[in-house]
Amino acid sequence: MRSALHTYHYWTGLLLSVFILAHLGNHLVALWSVSAHLATMAALRVVYRNPVVETGLLLAVAGQVFTGLRLYWHSRSQPQRPLAGRIQIFSGLYLAFFLLVHTGAVLTGRAWFGLDTNLYFAAAGINTFPFSLFFIPYYFLGVTAVFLHIASLHYQKGTRLWGEASARRQALSIGGAGVVVALLILFAMTNRLQGLPIPARYLQTLGK
Ligand code: HEM
Repeated sequence: MRSALHTYHYWTGLLLSVFILAHLGNHLVALWSVSAHLATMAALRVVYRNPVVETGLLLAVAGQVFTGLRLYWHSRSQPQRPLAGRIQIFSGLYLAFFLLVHTGAVLTGRAWFGLDTNLYFAAAGINTFPFSLFFIPYYFLGVTAVFLHIASLHYQKGTRLWGEASARRQALSIGGAGVVVALLILFAMTNRLQGLPIPARYLQTLGK
C-alpha cells in the first residue's frame, strides 16, 4: 500500500510538473528571440504570479523537497536498488538541491535586490566567467534531472505494463529529450553561444 508520504510526493510532483512544463517551454521560446521569451513569460506570470497560485506553487516546492528527502531517508535501510532506482534517487536529490537554491534565488532577487527576475536574472551567471563554471552545469543538471527522475519512474512502472525492452526504450527517449531540452535552453540563454549582453543591474547580483 502507498504511504501518505508517497501520495503527497506524487501530487505535489504532478502540480509542479504543470509549472515546469510551461516554464521550460517558456525558456525554449528564447530560441526564437529574447522578446518572444519575455512576452511569453509576461503572459504566464498572469497565472503563476497570482497570489493563490504562487502560494500553492511554493508550497508544492517545499512539500516536494520535504517528502522527497523523507522518502530517500527511509529508502536508505532498503537493499541496494537496480540502476533505474539509483537514477531516481540521485536525480531526486539533485532536484531537492536545485529547487531550494533556484526558488530561493528567485525570491531573493525579487525581495532583496528588487529585480524583475526575468531571463537576464538567470542569464547573468550563465554568461559571466567564472560564474558560468557553476551556472552552466547547475542549469543543465536541473533540467536533465527532471527528465531523468520521470524516466526512471516510467521505466519501473512501464516494465510491468509493456515489458522491459519497451519500457527501457521509452525511458531512454525521455532522458535523451531532457539532455536536448537542457542544451537548447543553454544555447538560447548564451545567445547561440555568442554571449548574451546583460543589463548592469543584473550583474550586481554577482558582485560586479
Ligand atoms: C535552464 C533552466 C531554467 C532557467 C534558466 C530558469 C529560470 C527561472 C527564472 C528566470 C525564474 C523567475 C521567473 C519569474 O520571475 O517569473 C524561475 C522561477 C522558477 N523556476 Fe526556473 N529556471 C530553469 C529551470 C527550472 C527547473 C528545471 C525547475 C524545477 C525543477 C524550475 C523551477 C522554478 C520555480 C519553482 C520558480 C519560481 C516561480 C515563482 O514562484 O516565481 N526552474 N526560473
